Amino acid sequence: MKSFKRYLVTSALPYANGPIHIGHLAGVYVPSDIYTRYLRMKGSDVISVCGSDEHGVPITLKARKEGITPQEVVDRYHELNKKAFEDFGITFDIYSRTSSKVHYDTASEFFRKLYDKGEFIEKSGGQYYDEEAGCFLADRYITGTCPHCGNGSAYGDQCEKCGTSLSPSELINPQSTVSGSKPVLRDTMHWYLPLDRYEPWLRKWILQEHTEWKTNVYGQCKSWLDQGLQPRAVSRDLDWGVPVPVEGADGKVLYVWFDAPIGYISATKELTPDWEKYWKDSETKMVHFIGKDNIVFHCIIFPAMLKAEGSFILPENVPANEFLNLENDKISTSRNWAVWLHEYLTDFPGMQDVLRYSLCASAPETKDNDFTWKEFQARNNNELVAILGNFVNRTLVLTNNYYEGRVPEPGATTPADETVLAEIENIRKNVETSLETFRFREALKEAMNLARLGNKYLADSEPWKVIKSDPERVKTIMNVALQITANLTIICEPFLPFSMQKLRDWMNFETLDWNRAGDKAILKPGHLISKPGLLFSKIEDEAIQKQVDRLMEIKKANQAATSPAAPAKDPVTYDDFSRMDIRTATILEAEKVPKTTKLLKLKIDTGIDTRTIVSGIAEYYQPEQLPGRQISIIANLEPRKIKGIESQGMILMAEDRDGRLVMVSPSEKVSNGSMIK
Ligand code: 2FM
Ligand code: ZN
Repeated sequence: MKSFKRYLVTSALPYANGPIHIGHLAGVYVPSDIYTRYLRMKGSDVISVCGSDEHGVPITLKARKEGITPQEVVDRYHELNKKAFEDFGITFDIYSRTSSKVHYDTASEFFRKLYDKGEFIEKSGGQYYDEEAGCFLADRYITGTCPHCGNGSAYGDQCEKCGTSLSPSELINPQSTVSGSKPVLRDTMHWYLPLDRYEPWLRKWILQEHTEWKTNVYGQCKSWLDQGLQPRAVSRDLDWGVPVPVEGADGKVLYVWFDAPIGYISATKELTPDWEKYWKDSETKMVHFIGKDNIVFHCIIFPAMLKAEGSFILPENVPANEFLNLENDKISTSRNWAVWLHEYLTDFPGMQDVLRYSLCASAPETKDNDFTWKEFQARNNNELVAILGNFVNRTLVLTNNYYEGRVPEPGATTPADETVLAEIENIRKNVETSLETFRFREALKEAMNLARLGNKYLADSEPWKVIKSDPERVKTIMNVALQITANLTIICEPFLPFSMQKLRDWMNFETLDWNRAGDKAILKPGHLISKPGLLFSKIEDEAIQKQVDRLMEIKKANQAATSPAAPAKDPVTYDDFSRMDIRTATILEAEKVPKTTKLLKLKIDTGIDTRTIVSGIAEYYQPEQLPGRQISIIANLEPRKIKGIESQGMILMAEDRDGRLVMVSPSEKVSNGSMIK
């Protein structure tokens, strides 16, 4: 493995149009902080940069809605988010922002260099324009009917129902979501980065030279590359952003995804005059911490930009996480379905580490994961309190009781003592390996194994009994327990910095040097410790119920506030209706359609035949739940090819107002092929 002289850790710049929630923390900032703290403790030359991403259309829309300027929006959330990170001990070396002058200069220069090198292509074309709002519309802000599945609320970039990628011009009856008006096509010119030119290089760089990347990241990159890359526009018609630094580009700004990653460079420049050594020296290891929705930007587009520029290094790794859900539902800022960091601290003051711990322990490292308040409580009560807190407390209390707080001189050790002491070093190595390969859940579990080991050691050696019969032996036992405790303050520090600071204070032991972990005699006999407090305290059911109730209230409010049921459609004749062959059927087999996130391929017994139907329900049903389920289908819908599979009919689904799809099934079992009339 290549060794590096220094590290540059970047964490996705959060948009400054909303507060930070647990999904952000679990996906990006807790792992990046653990990694950076670990490297600092090892004595590595490392900097961690982050800041607010302050451009993009959503920020302008929020400002418009609130009747304030975009700058006022970002000022508010920049401060709020900066403080939230500080409160949770996320130790960035700088938390900058993309509305800063340094950033404007850096992003403009970057664009200009590519422009001067002839790296862009200029293309004009029709783009939807909202005449009422007076602005061009980003694809996401146009809705209409999907030409593939008939979904009436498909977006200009994608139909969420059938998963097909769309361009706005394919939508039937397009509508602007900004003003509700019908958009018109207007000609406009933009600069494009020809990603297709970089495709061969990207294929080699990622698919051959970075096979060590996490499978979710590697897989997503491969799928993008296999689909073939297209030129990407890097400018937009908007009055909020970094102006395109070219003569005659009035009213045009850099696309937010062009300027945001350059924000990492600007932040480094702001942090240190020595910024070039972090960005331009091949002995720097750059690691991007991001969520899965950012993979293409950090693994394909930004590297292509850096390569085109020519003087910068590329990321060595991009350990992206999947998404965290909350109580079985997608976290959503607009639906207020989240645990906001600033609110958490009001309800659980001083308990930052409990959240850090439970988010790391169930981080969505390989697949989406669910945060539940019950699990949070269990992690605290059964792990932090019962294992780590219990061990530390027993050790420190007994040391105070038996030796007035002085570390006792150990006597002869038994083979059992030696095994336990040797295990400290093994655990340290295991934690290191896991951290260096970005397996944070595993690293945390391993760190907790040291506390488990300590607990078991005390339970097996029972110093509280032996003290009466063999006080000399107890000196050795307590010395071993204290060595474990001191090692815990180092090994658990990256994960639980607030609690470990407390523990270090009680132990009067200040070292933060990772390299000392594993030392079996890290505390010298005679070293004085003070009286401990409680490291963690039990969370009662009432506190958890309060959080669950709050979420239930939000769910109810959302249901009440969601748009009314879809308006009635035009009447059809009875004949029209009776031409449709709607009948019951049973699912025999179900499997995911490869390279899609929404589609399932179903084998179905319709009573008249066995056939295949492709359905966009993968987000709502796991394939293994489906065989044997009775459903309703339209059997005489014209067959259609979806992702190369012929779909012979359609399954009837009820779409809830929040977009959730639920199968329409007969209320009692009936024979397959029963007509629905
Ligand atoms: O997804 C997001 O929240 C983006 N604001 C992340 C940007 S990361 C980087 F490119 F700045
Ligand atoms: Zn569709």
